[in-house]
Amino acid sequence: MITQLDDGIIIRNAVKSDAALFRGLRLEALENHPTAFGADYLENTLKPAKFWEERLSFNEDEQAMFFAEQNGQLIGMAGIFRSLSKKNLHSANIFGVYVKPNWRGHRISQLLVKTCLDWAKLKRITIVKLAVVTSNRSAILSYEQCGFVMYGKEPKALLVDGKYYDEYLMSVDIL
Ligand SMILES: CC(C)(COP(=O)(O)OP(=O)(O)OC[C@H]1O[C@@H](n2cnc3c(N)ncnc32)[C@H](O)[C@@H]1OP(=O)(O)O)[C@@H](O)C(=O)NCCC(=O)NCCS
Repeated sequence: MITQLDDGIIIRNAVKSDAALFRGLRLEALENHPTAFGADYLENTLKPAKFWEERLSFNEDEQAMFFAEQNGQLIGMAGIFRSLSKKNLHSANIFGVYVKPNWRGHRISQLLVKTCLDWAKLKRITIVKLAVVTSNRSAILSYEQCGFVMYGKEPKALLVDGKYYDEYLMSVDIL
Protein backbone atom coordinates (compact mmCIF):
# COMPACT_ATOMS: atom_id res chain seq x y z
CA MET A 1 0.00 0.00 0.00
CA ILE A 2 1.57 3.31 -1.09
CA THR A 3 -0.15 6.70 -0.94
CA GLN A 4 1.53 9.70 -2.59
CA LEU A 5 0.68 13.05 -1.01
CA ASP A 6 1.57 16.71 -1.54
CA ASP A 7 5.14 17.75 -0.71
CA GLY A 8 6.39 14.38 -1.95
CA ILE A 9 5.25 12.67 1.25
CA ILE A 10 4.60 8.97 0.89
CA ILE A 11 2.70 6.71 3.29
CA ARG A 12 3.94 3.15 2.83
CA ASN A 13 4.17 -0.23 4.51
CA ALA A 14 7.22 -0.90 6.65
CA VAL A 15 9.40 -3.77 5.41
CA LYS A 16 12.09 -5.82 7.12
CA SER A 17 14.91 -3.86 5.49
CA ASP A 18 13.63 -0.71 7.29
CA ALA A 19 14.87 -2.14 10.61
CA ALA A 20 17.73 0.37 11.15
CA LEU A 21 15.60 3.38 10.16
CA PHE A 22 12.73 2.10 12.29
CA ARG A 23 15.07 1.71 15.29
CA GLY A 24 16.22 5.32 14.88
CA LEU A 25 12.71 6.76 14.64
CA ARG A 26 11.33 4.62 17.45
CA LEU A 27 14.19 5.46 19.84
CA GLU A 28 13.78 9.17 19.04
CA ALA A 29 10.08 8.87 19.93
CA LEU A 30 10.70 6.97 23.18
CA GLU A 31 13.53 9.27 24.31
CA ASN A 32 11.73 12.55 23.67
CA HIS A 33 8.21 11.49 24.72
CA PRO A 34 8.57 9.10 27.68
CA THR A 35 4.98 9.65 28.82
CA ALA A 36 3.46 9.01 25.37
CA PHE A 37 4.49 5.36 25.01
CA GLY A 38 4.40 2.26 27.17
CA ALA A 39 7.83 1.12 25.92
CA ASP A 40 10.93 2.41 27.70
CA TYR A 41 13.78 4.22 25.88
CA LEU A 42 16.72 2.70 27.78
CA GLU A 43 15.34 -0.83 27.59
CA ASN A 44 14.95 -0.43 23.84
CA THR A 45 18.46 0.97 23.28
CA LEU A 46 19.76 -2.38 24.57
CA LYS A 47 17.84 -4.49 22.06
CA PRO A 48 19.95 -6.18 19.37
CA ALA A 49 19.53 -5.53 15.63
CA LYS A 50 17.63 -8.83 15.35
CA PHE A 51 14.90 -7.44 17.64
CA TRP A 52 14.20 -4.57 15.24
CA GLU A 53 14.15 -6.90 12.24
CA GLU A 54 11.73 -9.22 14.04
CA ARG A 55 9.45 -6.27 14.87
CA LEU A 56 9.07 -5.82 11.11
CA SER A 57 8.77 -9.53 10.25
CA PHE A 58 5.17 -10.00 11.23
CA ASN A 59 2.37 -12.00 9.65
CA GLU A 60 0.63 -9.51 7.36
CA ASP A 61 -2.81 -10.79 8.37
CA GLU A 62 -2.04 -10.00 12.00
CA GLN A 63 -0.16 -6.73 11.99
CA ALA A 64 0.91 -3.77 9.88
CA MET A 65 3.18 -0.81 10.29
CA PHE A 66 3.18 2.28 8.13
CA PHE A 67 5.78 4.96 7.61
CA ALA A 68 5.44 8.50 6.36
CA GLU A 69 8.50 9.28 4.27
CA GLN A 70 9.85 12.24 2.37
CA ASN A 71 12.94 12.03 0.14
CA GLY A 72 13.87 8.69 1.67
CA GLN A 73 13.71 10.04 5.24
CA LEU A 74 11.18 8.60 7.70
CA ILE A 75 9.09 11.40 9.20
CA GLY A 76 6.38 9.44 10.99
CA MET A 77 4.99 6.02 11.78
CA ALA A 78 2.00 4.10 13.16
CA GLY A 79 1.32 0.43 13.76
CA ILE A 80 -1.73 -1.77 14.19
CA PHE A 81 -2.09 -5.31 15.47
CA ARG A 82 -5.07 -7.60 15.44
CA SER A 83 -6.28 -9.49 18.51
CA LEU A 84 -5.75 -13.19 17.88
CA SER A 85 -8.12 -15.24 19.98
CA LYS A 86 -11.21 -16.62 18.26
CA LYS A 87 -13.59 -14.29 20.10
CA ASN A 88 -11.74 -11.06 19.38
CA LEU A 89 -10.40 -11.45 15.86
CA HIS A 90 -12.73 -8.58 14.95
CA SER A 91 -10.68 -6.16 17.05
CA ALA A 92 -7.32 -4.41 16.59
CA ASN A 93 -5.17 -1.88 18.43
CA ILE A 94 -3.16 1.03 17.09
CA PHE A 95 0.25 1.70 18.66
CA GLY A 96 3.44 3.72 18.22
CA VAL A 97 1.98 6.80 16.53
CA TYR A 98 4.80 9.31 16.05
CA VAL A 99 5.54 12.30 13.82
CA LYS A 100 8.91 14.09 13.83
CA PRO A 101 8.68 17.57 15.43
CA ASN A 102 9.31 19.56 12.21
CA TRP A 103 6.38 17.82 10.54
CA ARG A 104 3.74 18.19 13.24
CA GLY A 105 0.52 20.08 12.61
CA HIS A 106 0.27 18.83 8.99
CA ARG A 107 -2.12 16.00 9.85
CA ILE A 108 0.45 13.36 9.00
CA SER A 109 -0.60 11.37 12.07
CA GLN A 110 -4.17 11.36 10.76
CA LEU A 111 -2.99 9.99 7.41
CA LEU A 112 -1.03 7.27 9.19
CA VAL A 113 -3.94 6.34 11.47
CA LYS A 114 -6.41 6.34 8.56
CA THR A 115 -4.05 4.03 6.67
CA CYS A 116 -4.13 1.69 9.68
CA LEU A 117 -7.95 1.85 9.60
CA ASP A 118 -7.95 1.03 5.86
CA TRP A 119 -5.77 -2.01 6.61
CA ALA A 120 -8.21 -3.05 9.35
CA LYS A 121 -11.18 -2.76 6.99
CA LEU A 122 -9.43 -4.99 4.44
CA LYS A 123 -9.00 -7.58 7.21
CA ARG A 124 -12.71 -7.33 8.10
CA ILE A 125 -11.87 -5.96 11.52
CA THR A 126 -14.86 -4.07 12.92
CA ILE A 127 -13.45 -2.12 15.86
CA VAL A 128 -10.08 -0.44 16.40
CA LYS A 129 -8.88 0.73 19.80
CA LEU A 130 -6.00 2.73 21.22
CA ALA A 131 -4.86 4.33 24.46
CA VAL A 132 -3.57 7.88 24.88
CA VAL A 133 -2.30 9.72 27.97
CA THR A 134 -5.04 12.10 29.09
CA SER A 135 -2.83 15.22 28.74
CA ASN A 136 -1.76 14.47 25.13
CA ARG A 137 -4.03 17.05 23.52
CA SER A 138 -2.69 16.94 19.95
CA ALA A 139 -2.82 13.14 19.85
CA ILE A 140 -6.41 13.10 21.18
CA LEU A 141 -7.43 15.73 18.58
CA SER A 142 -5.79 13.72 15.84
CA TYR A 143 -7.58 10.51 16.88
CA GLU A 144 -10.91 12.32 17.15
CA GLN A 145 -10.43 13.61 13.59
CA CYS A 146 -10.07 9.96 12.57
CA GLY A 147 -13.39 9.08 14.20
CA PHE A 148 -12.20 7.74 17.55
CA VAL A 149 -14.33 8.37 20.64
CA MET A 150 -13.46 7.85 24.28
CA TYR A 151 -14.98 4.81 25.94
CA GLY A 152 -13.08 4.80 29.21
CA LYS A 153 -10.11 5.82 31.25
CA GLU A 154 -7.36 3.63 32.65
CA PRO A 155 -6.05 5.04 35.90
CA LYS A 156 -2.29 4.88 36.55
CA ALA A 157 -1.66 3.37 33.12
CA LEU A 158 1.98 4.52 33.12
CA LEU A 159 4.51 5.27 35.87
CA VAL A 160 7.29 7.54 34.61
CA ASP A 161 9.93 9.01 36.93
CA GLY A 162 7.73 8.43 39.96
CA LYS A 163 4.62 10.05 38.46
CA TYR A 164 1.47 8.22 37.38
CA TYR A 165 -0.31 8.94 34.10
CA ASP A 166 -3.89 8.01 33.27
CA GLU A 167 -4.83 7.02 29.73
CA TYR A 168 -8.03 7.56 27.80
CA LEU A 169 -9.22 4.45 26.00
CA MET A 170 -10.56 5.30 22.55
CA SER A 171 -12.26 3.25 19.84
CA VAL A 172 -13.74 3.58 16.38
CA ASP A 173 -16.32 1.27 14.78
CA ILE A 174 -15.30 0.75 11.19
CA LEU A 175 -17.89 -1.63 9.78
C1 LIG B 1 0.57 13.37 18.58
C2 LIG B 1 1.21 13.46 17.22
C3 LIG B 1 1.39 12.06 16.64
C4 LIG B 1 0.28 14.29 16.31
O1 LIG B 1 0.87 14.30 15.01
P1 LIG B 1 0.53 15.44 13.93
O2 LIG B 1 0.77 14.87 12.58
O3 LIG B 1 1.22 16.68 14.27
O4 LIG B 1 -1.02 15.61 14.19
P2 LIG B 1 -2.00 16.51 13.38
O5 LIG B 1 -1.25 17.43 12.45
O6 LIG B 1 -3.03 15.61 12.83
O7 LIG B 1 -2.60 17.41 14.52
C5 LIG B 1 -3.57 16.86 15.36
C6 LIG B 1 -4.40 17.94 15.91
O8 LIG B 1 -3.68 18.57 16.93
C7 LIG B 1 -3.57 19.96 16.65
N1 LIG B 1 -2.24 20.28 17.09
C8 LIG B 1 -1.10 20.05 16.47
N2 LIG B 1 -0.08 20.47 17.21
C9 LIG B 1 -0.64 20.96 18.34
C10 LIG B 1 -0.13 21.54 19.51
N3 LIG B 1 1.19 21.70 19.69
N4 LIG B 1 -0.99 21.92 20.49
C11 LIG B 1 -2.31 21.75 20.32
N5 LIG B 1 -2.85 21.22 19.24
C12 LIG B 1 -2.02 20.85 18.27
C13 LIG B 1 -3.76 20.11 15.19
O9 LIG B 1 -4.27 21.39 14.90
C14 LIG B 1 -4.74 19.02 14.90
O10 LIG B 1 -6.07 19.38 15.17
P3 LIG B 1 -7.08 19.72 13.96
O11 LIG B 1 -7.10 18.50 13.10
O12 LIG B 1 -8.38 19.99 14.65
O13 LIG B 1 -6.47 20.90 13.29
C15 LIG B 1 2.58 14.18 17.27
O14 LIG B 1 2.42 15.41 17.93
C16 LIG B 1 3.64 13.37 18.00
O15 LIG B 1 4.34 12.55 17.40
N6 LIG B 1 3.76 13.58 19.34
C17 LIG B 1 4.73 12.85 20.14
C18 LIG B 1 4.40 11.36 20.27
C19 LIG B 1 2.97 11.12 20.69
O16 LIG B 1 2.44 11.80 21.57
N7 LIG B 1 2.35 10.09 20.08
C20 LIG B 1 1.00 9.70 20.38
C21 LIG B 1 1.02 8.56 21.32
S1 LIG B 1 -0.65 8.06 21.79
